[in-house]
Amino acid sequence: MNGSLIIKNAAELVTCSGFTAKKGKAMSDLGIIADGALVIEQGRISRVGPTAQVLAELSASGRNLAAFEAINASGKAVLPGFVDSHTHLVFGGFRAEEYVWRLKGDSYMEILRRGGGILRTVNATRGASHAELTAAGLKRLDSMLSFGVTTVEGKSGYGLDRATEIKQLEVMAELNRRHPLEVVPTFMGAHAVLPEYKGREDDYIDFMLAEVVPEVAARGLAEFCDVFCEQSVFSVAQSRRLLTRAMESGLKPKLHADEIVRLGGAELAAEIGAVSADHLLHASDEGLQAMAAAGVVATLLPATAFSLREPYARGRFMIDAGGAVALATDFNPGSCFSESIPLVAALAALYMSLTPEEIVTALTLNAAAALDRAALIGSLDTGKQGDVVILENPSYRFIPYHLGVSTVEKVIKKGVLVFDKFRKGECRC
Ligand code: NIG
Ligand code: FE
Repeated sequence: MNGSLIIKNAAELVTCSGFTAKKGKAMSDLGIIADGALVIEQGRISRVGPTAQVLAELSASGRNLAAFEAINASGKAVLPGFVDSHTHLVFGGFRAEEYVWRLKGDSYMEILRRGGGILRTVNATRGASHAELTAAGLKRLDSMLSFGVTTVEGKSGYGLDRATEIKQLEVMAELNRRHPLEVVPTFMGAHAVLPEYKGREDDYIDFMLAEVVPEVAARGLAEFCDVFCEQSVFSVAQSRRLLTRAMESGLKPKLHADEIVRLGGAELAAEIGAVSADHLLHASDEGLQAMAAAGVVATLLPATAFSLREPYARGRFMIDAGGAVALATDFNPGSCFSESIPLVAALAALYMSLTPEEIVTALTLNAAAALDRAALIGSLDTGKQGDVVILENPSYRFIPYHLGVSTVEKVIKKGVLVFDKFRKGECRC
């Protein structure tokens, strides 16, 4: 395969057409073409439209149709590849026993305060070799691909020291080279407070700014900088200082905001013009409205709320307030050990009152915008990367409707078939 492909006769070609995040009511517009076709040449989308028209244009252009791979998608919906814009996919060890403690009533933050939680994964990640983290990462990417994810964001933050933060980011670079799924790296050194820095969080921020951020930026190891802006973790003032300085080094800002308590993370995201603010379970009306006005993407992670048995973020309110909402998994070993896109979609429909149309926009174009890539991926528009999923069902509505079960039959990355549900073992592909 050379990245040149025709997909034709799609029951629904769900283009999600657009080059910037869709806000408010515009999130319902999926730009669907019935009996649609799509042409990808050298990894880029070159034509989109009704099948008859696309095929006529292609023959008129004198192209040798035999040079293209062809997929007949009759009876199937075709969509842009999903973008999972918030994960913590590179980590050592697991925390299955903490899940049991949480079932018995311990809270996520209590477990962290007594040295478990993120700090436990920090120990395991420090102890894991580059090769071990890479092998685990490749398996996780395979699983994500099977859910239709073609681009995934990954955060560091399980090192909290120079060497391990860098190691996590280097592993992401290697995953990017070795796997068709694209990994977008985020530096999240400010993910938790080590016991030796308790009460000296500002010193820790100083250490990150002096010893780690410059190397991350100079080596191009990350594109974004994220921070856990939370009570008992990093304050709004500390988060502001870190993100402002990181921006000066060329890292774009993101925040874990208002996840456990209402701290003012949403307001800070609007103030500094963050690319996205994520979680937002407890964000204030004013904070959310300010984010909508400032064009900050609200990335919602309903599988985390589900897993922590916390109230869901107010997605309906955010969209009605004219905001741009994205959905992501938050895949990590603690608060949300799931890479399931269909679970996220079902929870967003049932507990956040998002419509299937809004959910599709939130998993594609708006998630691409949360990674500052809406001009490159997230929709089936001419000129964009040929990242496509083909469902086994005729409509996008099956994504939230088939509860917790993936409807994805095929995944195409840059015009190449990389996953096929019915050709297991042959793919990547
Ligand atoms: O997004 N809240 C902070 N970070 C992650 C959880 C990481 C972990 O528990 O290992 C989150 O929920
Ligand atoms: Fe997270």
